[in-house]
Amino acid sequence: ADWVSRTRAGLTEGRFPARAFNDVDVHALEQERLFAKAWCFLAHESEIPSPGDYVTRKIGNNNLIVARDEHGVIHANLNMCRHRGNVMCKSEMGNASHFRCSYHGWTYKNSGELVGVPYMKEGYEGRLKRKDWGLVAVRVDTYEGLVFGCLDPEGPSLAEYLGGFQFYLDLYLKHGLGGVEVHGPPDHWVADTDWKICAENFAGDGYHTPVAHQWGFHLGYFPSSGTTHSQGWAASIPGKGHGIGLGHGPGYPAFSGFPDQVVAGMKEAMSPEQVAVFSQIRTAVGTVFPNLSFLMQPFSLVPGDPGVRFVTMRLYHPAGPGRMEMYSWCLVPKDAPEDYKAEAYRAYTLAFGQAGTFEQDDFENWTKVTASAGSGLVRDLDFPYIMGMESEPVPEFPGPGHVVRPYVNDTNFRNMWSRWGDYLAGEA
Ligand code: FES
Ligand code: FE
Repeated sequence: ADWVSRTRAGLTEGRFPARAFNDVDVHALEQERLFAKAWCFLAHESEIPSPGDYVTRKIGNNNLIVARDEHGVIHANLNMCRHRGNVMCKSEMGNASHFRCSYHGWTYKNSGELVGVPYMKEGYEGRLKRKDWGLVAVRVDTYEGLVFGCLDPEGPSLAEYLGGFQFYLDLYLKHGLGGVEVHGPPDHWVADTDWKICAENFAGDGYHTPVAHQWGFHLGYFPSSGTTHSQGWAASIPGKGHGIGLGHGPGYPAFSGFPDQVVAGMKEAMSPEQVAVFSQIRTAVGTVFPNLSFLMQPFSLVPGDPGVRFVTMRLYHPAGPGRMEMYSWCLVPKDAPEDYKAEAYRAYTLAFGQAGTFEQDDFENWTKVTASAGSGLVRDLDFPYIMGMESEPVPEFPGPGHVVRPYVNDTNFRNMWSRWGDYLAGEA
């Protein structure tokens, strides 16, 4: 409790402790007070388009089955048999009308109802009521195809939780009237890094781009002439609003890298204010607190080419102190031509797939930060989070939120970690 209140006080002066990024107690507190309370991302609807489709996902240390039932309704149930706690479903994705436990054979519908119990009559003699022993359901809600779950039966709705940030989420999701879909299954891997380092990076670390990813500029994979790019970042911080950062302003071709048909679809699906915001950014990153991020970026498959634009969505699942499971998807407009989808997927894979060049740049740094944070002398040191302490909001910006320039700025990070502190203190 002392450490949490000292951390919260430090943030108001622009300091945040290294220990937060690799610590057994912090990890345990996050499980109990943050991931058990916040809305957490589970899946994209297009991963489970047909009745019976399912994926297994996690919130905190809880395994979940996210399944579409025979009526098309999406359920998230604890992936645990109510009889003795066996794991019900051991594959990451598939299609099943029922799940049958491999231990004693209890069988559940994909909606979670218990429908089959071996030796029901002889064994239980009428004492077991099937309706009392269904799978444990978790609150589920969706926004524009994104499926979220919340372990807390109380608390705000998803719409309240996201608030005005839906405006910015649409920049990644309303790519035509059909919206977006995942292109293939997610890349899914484990890394020795803390989820917060990644969530922070995608909430506006424009600072690292020209250094960590400098080869990308030198070799011409970034279709831009400078050694940085006009970047916009955004973060959704429930209870604290939205922080938006802008790069060097217009001067780059808006909507570049999308086929004309997709651009027309976007303009139809978005509001004029959203189109105005979109026209100001070349590359856009964003994080929905706590651990879901988006990136939209042009990438030249042939160095020097104008580039193809791709969208990636990533989930940083906390798998232990200093350890993370990464899920990374490529999103494409449903109505786009197939050859564009294939090209966008190629660009995504080369840049941000698990062996992608940008991904490698980032993980090289993130794993080292995590290792440092867990080492003896470092544990009681703070890092400076003082950039942009005095930033004034940009006036007359067409979108909601607190908007600042320049895009190299710690404002979002201070806000994110102070919200994180509210959760850890039990005050969110
Ligand atoms: Fe599942 Fe016994 S643990 S049927
Ligand atoms: Fe990066």
